[in-house]
Amino acid sequence: MKKGLFITFEGIDGCGKSTQTAILKKKLEDSGSRCMLTQEPSSGPIGAMIRQCLTKRISFDERTMACLFAADRIDHLTNETSGILKSVNNGTTVICDRYVLSSFAYQSAGAPLDWVMDLNDQAGDIIRPDLHIYMDIPVEMSLERIDRNRASHELYETRDRLNKVKSNYEHIIEKLTGLGQESIFTVDATLSPDAIADKIWYRVTGLLNNG
Ligand code: TYD
Repeated sequence: MKKGLFITFEGIDGCGKSTQTAILKKKLEDSGSRCMLTQEPSSGPIGAMIRQCLTKRISFDERTMACLFAADRIDHLTNETSGILKSVNNGTTVICDRYVLSSFAYQSAGAPLDWVMDLNDQAGDIIRPDLHIYMDIPVEMSLERIDRNRASHELYETRDRLNKVKSNYEHIIEKLTGLGQESIFTVDATLSPDAIADKIWYRVTGLLNNG
């Protein structure tokens, strides 16, 4: 059976991933592909614990958070109920809102990048995304959107952290692109939702037609 694609969305908080993941899912389904939209932290048991940290109900140090995100990822890939691997192998295209680049960019603000990358090595051995889509927006715009849409800020939604995370994303994307290990598409997320969706669709149809 032909495998589905595995596509991830990345970017700082408030960059517009939710809008674009939903549009891409609809376009894929309209064009006849089976499609699953999922996110990290996942809806599984480790993801639930991480969400308690993001909403500041409980707290762990930065290294523990890095381990939790990596553990949640392996479970998200491999669990038999709703795992990514099973779906991709069944021919379903999986769109994942955040994946390893989020760990590299967010957790390396509080722990060494090389260590965070090592922690996520196993995920890379299990499956590699066909495409990472990085939605690039200025931190000020992201903070404005968060303020407009939500009553309170989550754990990492501060100006200082997001500045660091954005520069981490840029460094990591340059590094991984240079190594030729990952396929990463950067899209200007300050454009209109339709314009962004068109650019993403053009790139994804390229993958569909080459597969
Ligand atoms: P979430 O409420 O899902 O928001 P968003 O729409 O921005 O994804 O928050 C997820 C948060 O978790 C976000 O601040 C990024 C962070 N995160 C990490 O720090 N490391 C990771 O590996 C992942 C997947 C997410």
